[in-house]
Amino acid sequence: MDYKRYIAQHIKAEGVSEDELCGLVTVPPDASMGDYALPCFKLAKVLRKSPALIAEAIAKDYPLDGVVSEAKALNGYVNFRIARGGLAKDVLTRILSEGERYGASTMGEGKTICIDYSSVNIAKPFHIGHLSTTVIGGALYRIFKFLGYNTVGINHLGDYGTQFGKLIAAYKRWGNKEEAEKGGIHAINDLYVRFNEEADEGMEAEAREYFRLIESGDREANELFDWFKSLTLSYVKGIYEKLHITFDSYAGERFYTDKMAPVVEELKEKGLLKESNGAQIVDLEPYGMPPCLILRSDGASLYATRDLAAAIYRKKTYDFDKCLYVVAYQQNLHFKQVFKVLELMGKDWAKDLVHVAYGMVSLEDGAMSTRKGKVVWLEDVINRCVEKAYSVIDEKNPTLENKKEIAEKVGVGAVIFSALYNNKIKDIVFSYDKALNFDGETSVYVQYTCARASSVLAKAAEGGYEAAIPETYTPCDQEFELVKALADFPETVKAAAERYEPSFVARWCVDTAQKFNKFYFDCKILQDEETRAFRLALTKATLSALSNGLALLGIGVPEKM
Ligand code: ARG
Repeated sequence: MDYKRYIAQHIKAEGVSEDELCGLVTVPPDASMGDYALPCFKLAKVLRKSPALIAEAIAKDYPLDGVVSEAKALNGYVNFRIARGGLAKDVLTRILSEGERYGASTMGEGKTICIDYSSVNIAKPFHIGHLSTTVIGGALYRIFKFLGYNTVGINHLGDYGTQFGKLIAAYKRWGNKEEAEKGGIHAINDLYVRFNEEADEGMEAEAREYFRLIESGDREANELFDWFKSLTLSYVKGIYEKLHITFDSYAGERFYTDKMAPVVEELKEKGLLKESNGAQIVDLEPYGMPPCLILRSDGASLYATRDLAAAIYRKKTYDFDKCLYVVAYQQNLHFKQVFKVLELMGKDWAKDLVHVAYGMVSLEDGAMSTRKGKVVWLEDVINRCVEKAYSVIDEKNPTLENKKEIAEKVGVGAVIFSALYNNKIKDIVFSYDKALNFDGETSVYVQYTCARASSVLAKAAEGGYEAAIPETYTPCDQEFELVKALADFPETVKAAAERYEPSFVARWCVDTAQKFNKFYFDCKILQDEETRAFRLALTKATLSALSNGLALLGIGVPEKM
């Protein structure tokens, strides 16, 4: 149940709408004051009374029932208490009956969301810098799906540009098929790095010529290009599999080769295109931005040109309600420009384009640099984290079965979680030790809590004890805190979608796990029949809801740890 809504519906305040009231209801910082509170300060103007008097009147008139057991006025607030037994019963019943669907919704039915994420560059390393876009995008994809939206995951591959000319030139000079096939993306990357290190004027000219050949449809150049692309993609897909990432479309920049001319034409027709030093631009000075470059003086298109074509294509193809771009904040200006140009073109849907920006990821033991080949490959970070997870698990629980499988879930989870736990705009420094801390604000901690819950349930089952929701039961403080956290899950998922913040779900997982552990340590489970049944039901519900939370983030739950 949406308790804020419920409370808003039952408040008597003439002239104030239910939605307005619902928006005002909050959770007090200190649970001893109440479970929910209505601050009355904003109502003072409409109701022409002091907040204190309003609060008193609302509290006096509030109809108490089996849902809300107390309404008290204090310093301009009305503090509400939820009937503990009623809430517990309601929430546990829902979780145990809905299972994997707890927190899901149909609110998105009939609406389409395109999400452009990961968008790797062909023939360039898939490095730690791509972690955030990949896992934030993947989490948003699952979250929106969970809420009933039709979601379209798009990998806007960076497969267009002069670097492919360089790559072909380098391959022709130093490469061979066998080595490239064996070394895959790493061999290709080495060639590219070497080219950048050694190229002189002559080689640069060669590269430009190869790029021109790709563009003009030359067969050999295109075959090489396609081959480099397929080598990169099969490598990248292996990582996506580990991270539980999927896409519905791999239409990359190259896909728009023949879709840019009509856009340029439309810009011209609408009088938006201007010449500047031989290049074609859209002037954005009135909007306080540098011009958006559309065509270079040699007629070549740019990154922005392809994004304009892509946005128009996506609108036409998917008729999206929103199109998200999960891309680092370094590209803030680029997206502001592209969105503005579309708006100037009269695309009223330009308002539905959202740049979901995020901060940088670096490693504790040294920053990443892409230039000189001194990159940290994402694959290496994942593998190392899985190895470390294995040794931690092995040390804690040497007799555990399936250690490899569990280490995979734990290690991969730790990498994903580290990019999802903080507000996405923050820069983060990845540390293996912190990410794998069993007692930290980590996925390992949450997974370990799930394993603990599983083991409680398994032991109870051995003793013939079952979870059940008693007809009447009044939870103690620890139980009730946990119940409230569980009740918050559906709203948390919605908020995560609204604000494009998977971190809300990640934080909910840690918070709920902490509340479970407080309950676990403070309350003995094997008590009289009613208490025991309730506590087992609470344990089962916690495991179920936490599993849903982790699944939205792309993280698996081991049964034992
Ligand atoms: N490939 C680009 C990069 O690595 C990201 C592309 C983002 N998507 C887009 N539609 N521009 O910087």
